Amino acid sequence: MLRLQTPLPDTYSSATPEDLASRIERAKATLGSRVVILGHHYQREEVMRWADHRGDSFGLSRLAADNHEAEYVVFCGVHFMAESADILTADHQQVLLPDLNAGCSMADMADIDSVEEAWEAVAQVTDIDRVVPITYMNSSAALKAFVGRHGGAVCTSSNARAVITWALSRGDKLLFFPDQHLGRNTGYQLGYTDADMKVWNPRLELGGLDERQVKESTFLLWKGHCSVHQRFKVEHVEAARREQPGVQVVVHPECAHDVVALADQVGSTDYIIKAVDAAPPGTSLAIGTEIHLVQRLAAEHPDKTVFSLDPLICPCSTMFRIDDAHLAWVLEGLVDGEVRNRITVDADTAQWARVALERMLEIV
Ligand code: 13P
Ligand code: SF4
Repeated sequence: MLRLQTPLPDTYSSATPEDLASRIERAKATLGSRVVILGHHYQREEVMRWADHRGDSFGLSRLAADNHEAEYVVFCGVHFMAESADILTADHQQVLLPDLNAGCSMADMADIDSVEEAWEAVAQVTDIDRVVPITYMNSSAALKAFVGRHGGAVCTSSNARAVITWALSRGDKLLFFPDQHLGRNTGYQLGYTDADMKVWNPRLELGGLDERQVKESTFLLWKGHCSVHQRFKVEHVEAARREQPGVQVVVHPECAHDVVALADQVGSTDYIIKAVDAAPPGTSLAIGTEIHLVQRLAAEHPDKTVFSLDPLICPCSTMFRIDDAHLAWVLEGLVDGEVRNRITVDADTAQWARVALERMLEIV
């Protein structure tokens, strides 16, 4: 989805790092408790140092919702996270995303029109009342609302197993979007096989499947993926094991299943942080997730060898769009009484998206 960020004025784009740092510091001090800055774990260090709270996507939205004091929530993360924060915060709070082009390529792989078309197509060949839609947190508010309206729920990478188990107690089949890997990895964990899980390609008629496949499968997995996590390959695991005997391989469930199957541990961003914290001094850990988090973990654990499973740096390019210049621009705007890059979700969408989020919270 194209979201156009206006180019920053020269006073930001040409400013030195030192100038931007002192301007951010001053604006933050002027705004005081009227503003809270949230930093997702994948943010670069330059930005992360200003965050009042660090966390994963859902954790940060909840922090924003629990903070009734701040009028402004500056979300240093990507678009779907800022939308979730807007859904969960009170009406008097406004959420700002420093760069509107900070989207998520995976979230953009499922749009509401394609999901509605898929739903109608599935309904032509099977009892739709027995199909439960589940969306990963990494999706637009419109998809969360779709799921809320159709009796489904949101899941995150930490609770996908519980949410899918719940869904299969209410129906026979899941339409899971947008990340096929999280769906497949969780399906395997629950004992399902390839025969039970079929990829739904939204560009093809009936998802590229035949009627029997749609009827007989338990998981219809949307053909979406994360370009950052899909880069990790079996060869990387083999090389890490060869070069660092005894290494612990810890990967995110957005990685492909062949990598997950070889890893020692698999879990969400939060899980990975805890796994590194819990490892005894001297442990080597090869991490399959976004590079800024890996680098931060390495710096925070000098007594352990923490490195990226992929030796070639693989940042999330959209997370990387947030920098000090954009942060200074939104903060100085607030000081001047101008709200820049506000992210809003309309009332009807927000209401149904909240239903889907609350269902998830009841399940876990
Ligand atoms: P978290 O939900 O763990 O924050 O992950 C978000 C994400 O974008 C993973 O790629
Ligand atoms: Fe999206 Fe992948 Fe970036 Fe996460 S790491 S925000 S899933 S593109």
